[in-house]
Parts: sequence; structure tokens; C-alpha cells
Amino acid sequence: MSEGSPKRVLSGVQPTGELHLGNYFGAIVQHIALQDEFPGEAFYFIADYHALTTVRDAQTLRQSVFEVAVAYLALGLDPEKALLFRQSDVPEVTELMWMLSCGTGMGLLERATSYKDKLNRGIKPNVGLFTYPILMAADILLYRSSLVPVGKDQVQHVEMAQDMATHFTECFPSAEPVLLRPEYRLSSTPKVPGLDGEKMSKSYNNTIPIFATGKKLKKLVARIVTSAAELGDPLPIEGDNVLALLALFCDAEELQTIEGYYRTGQRDGQPFGYGHAKQLLTAKIESKFADARGRREALLADPQRVEDALKRSAARARVEAQRTLALCRHATGLR
Ligand code: ADP
Ligand code: TRP
Repeated sequence: MSEGSPKRVLSGVQPTGELHLGNYFGAIVQHIALQDEFPGEAFYFIADYHALTTVRDAQTLRQSVFEVAVAYLALGLDPEKALLFRQSDVPEVTELMWMLSCGTGMGLLERATSYKDKLNRGIKPNVGLFTYPILMAADILLYRSSLVPVGKDQVQHVEMAQDMATHFTECFPSAEPVLLRPEYRLSSTPKVPGLDGEKMSKSYNNTIPIFATGKKLKKLVARIVTSAAELGDPLPIEGDNVLALLALFCDAEELQTIEGYYRTGQRDGQPFGYGHAKQLLTAKIESKFADARGRREALLADPQRVEDALKRSAARARVEAQRTLALCRHATGLR
């Protein structure tokens, strides 16, 4: 990065499935916080090209992209501070992907653990799934991003982007490096447990959607797996799924009070059990996202506003993309 050029943060979100508490605490909170740390230089996009490796229905894809955009805006992403755009609104990324593909060995991709995991799960791979990390590297490098906040599962992909940037610079030297080496940043939030105590993930069907409310939310919370302690018995602190979720919503003092109820099996002289803990959790989720739910309803009713925000961000992102791509074309000898 040349002296004085701004640091830029970038991340992509796949538009597949309803966003859940794991996504919120593991990724979205950080993304939104970074808009103040990197004013004007936080780039987020909805990875619809990537989603095409698995989604097979146009309406589903369009709806999922819209839902993710609405969720981010409702949860506090401010399009005046950060960009939020559709990946496919900047098609230049696919051209950079081609250039990177030509310098990437098959072996590098064959070592990708997330690809190998998918094969092990019996997924029949398409070429897009295999080359997924090259498109992701193109996303990162096209916008000359310095910092990429991701979950642990994506670290190897960012490292591949580092390799691809270095390789490109070595193959096509120029006075100033055209592609910059990005760094990743892991979220500090520990793994958010799902209803069954495994990592909350849409692939495990154990999620609590961020905007779940009322009866649906109550039913989900009721399904959270707990120990067999009876009402009034002390409840375990370690490894308790309800408490782990409550901890995400409480400050230290409040958590200490709840841990007191757990240790004694009592609250204000009355027996305290999982039913009560689950009621506390339901109320926390309801109130934490109440304002965002209101904003979400308003945005759902005004798709044009969402589209305008996506389009404005894409226009700004595209200027950056075209600038990098022109440098890459020049460096490689393309027109
Ligand atoms: P899923 O596992 O539901 O498919 P994704 O892989 O799309 O979720 O997750 C997007 C990002 O959300 C991840 O990179 C990670 O940062 C975060 N995330 C997802 N699930 C969790 C979780 N259970 N705990 C913490 N962070 C999570
Ligand atoms: N692969 C990421 C995920 O599944 C999404 C993504 C696509 C991304 N391109 C990116 C993340 C670039 C960070 C940077 O979560």
C-alpha cells in the first residue's frame, strides 16, 4: 500500500438462508462497528456470485440478497458511512478472477479445507465450488482491502488471497504493487451455540433467526438442550447453552446475578429453573432487536429504498474496481 492510501476493510456475506444469532454476534456486530473505525472505507458486499455455486432458483437468490441487505440496514449499517453492495453489480471482479486463475496452481485449490469438507459431506462439486477461493481473492484484491474480518472457516481463503497477490506481483512487477496483501481479523466472539449445543449454523438446522419473535421465538428457545436439573436444583454454569446465549445479551453485572440464580436454583427466595432462564433469554432477544425489527418492517415495505442504497454503494465500489482492473490489465499486457 502506498504511503497515505487509506486502510480499507472488506467482507462478504453469502445470501443463503435466514441470518441467525451466530451470524449476528460472530460477524454482523463487528462489521457494523468497523464502519466507525474505517469511515468511508468499510466495504461489505452480498456474495451473490458465490451463492450461485449452490442456489438454483432465481427468485430465491433475489429474495435472499434483498433479505440480507434489509437485515444489515435494519441492524445499523449506515450507507453514509459504509458501502453495502451486491457483488454482481461490480462484474469487474470476474475479470480479475480470470487473471488470478491463470496464475493459481490446481494444488493450492485442492488443499482448500472448506472444499474438501464439502466433498466429504457428499456434495457433488461444480467447477465454481472448486474455484470459489479465487473469486473470493478477487473480491478482496480488487478493492485493495487491507483488513478482512472473517470467521475461522474463512482464514485459509484469505491466506490464499495473500498468496495470489504475492504471486501476481512477482509475475507482473510494476513500480508500485498493483495488488495489496490483505490481513484477516478474527471476531472475538466465541462460538455461539445452537439449540443443540453445536455451533449455531444453518447447515445444522439449530438456529435462532435474529428477527424471530413471539410464538416462533418461544418455541425455538424451548428447544434449547439443557441438563436434566429439576426446578429449584442448582443449574450447571459450565457448558450450559441457555446461559451461553444469555451471556451475549448481558453486561457483566447482570450475568453475575443470573449466575447466582443458577448456582442456588433460587431467585428472590423462589425456585429458579430452565423455564425461567429461557423466559429471560426470550425477553432479551425480543428487546435487543425490537428497534431493528421495526426498521426491518419499514425496509421490507420499501424495496426501492434498499435497491437505491445497494446501487449507490455499487457505483462507488465500481470506481475503485475499475481503477484496480486498469492497473492489472496494464501490468499483464492486456489492452
Ligand atoms: P452458517 O454456518 O450458518 O452457514 P456462515 O458460514 O454463512 O453461517 O457464517 C457467516 C459468518 O457468521 C461466519 O464467517 C462467522 O463469522 C459467523 N458465524 C456463523 N455462525 C457462527 C456461530 N455459531 N458463532 C460465531 N460466529 C458465527
Ligand atoms: N466466503 C465467505 C463466507 O462464506 C463470503 C465471502 C465471499 C467473503 N467473498 C469474500 C468474505 C471476501 C470475505 C472477503 O462467509
